[in-house]
Amino acid sequence: MFQWKKLLTVGALCIASVMTLAGCGGQQAATSSSSSSSSASSSAAQTIKVGSAVDFAPFEFQDEGQAEYQGFDMDLIRAIAKEMGVEVEIQNIGFDGLIPALQAKTVDVLISGMTINDERKQNVTFSDPYYESGLTMVVREDEQNIKSFQDLKGHKVAVQIGTTSAKEVKKIEGVEVKEFNTPADCFMELKSGGADAVINDRPVNDYFITKSGQTGVKELEEKLTSENYGIAVAKDNTELAGKINAALKKLKENGEYDKIYAKWFGGAKK
Ligand code: ARG
Repeated sequence: MFQWKKLLTVGALCIASVMTLAGCGGQQAATSSSSSSSSASSSAAQTIKVGSAVDFAPFEFQDEGQAEYQGFDMDLIRAIAKEMGVEVEIQNIGFDGLIPALQAKTVDVLISGMTINDERKQNVTFSDPYYESGLTMVVREDEQNIKSFQDLKGHKVAVQIGTTSAKEVKKIEGVEVKEFNTPADCFMELKSGGADAVINDRPVNDYFITKSGQTGVKELEEKLTSENYGIAVAKDNTELAGKINAALKKLKENGEYDKIYAKWFGGAKK
């Protein structure tokens, strides 16, 4: 009899820990209650599901041992939700799976350092731009041959799959393009010598080099593109886009946007 009980307890513990693990990586619910000035009247606030590729510091990332997803986008979407009087639940989805997830209605909103462009506009509706970005290149510190995008011919370049970097690098003639799931994978490839350059968003390259104390690599100044980030909703959901824009505008007016900006980029806008 005793053995049976033990077995059951062990079994229950296993199931519980599997469930916890499954919950950990995938989703985060965050409340955005009390001080909201918006007019949501019901006590059970509505929850919006947000998709993000949480691999893009300082916009969306998760430090070891840290429960919450963090970064500029994460703070911004939580502030927007608070302003709208709704709760957010953030799901970590690979970047190239984000627009499909929005189209399948797995999520309602995407915030992921996502560049507004015409191609994507065919499938989603973007909010007003919320961050000015662009693409730069990272090479090994001792690199002698690559000083500009024009020098990439005959070289291997690592990019994140589904991104504007992947799209742009394919326009450069004679480049061997290597696509990876995350920017971290791209940087690993660069360091190990499997690629000679990484093309990626400038603020993420900046952060990688300066904040994460990387050695052996350097970022070149030259910009390949100028881009604007937008928050995406389903193509036909212009109502939600309108609400997001109104919240964004409010946060820009009341200084909250600037506070979040200063927290992640230290004040002055680039
Ligand atoms: N801005 C680029 C794009 O929209 C890269 C975005 C990558 N975002 C991410 N969370 N990994 O294609």
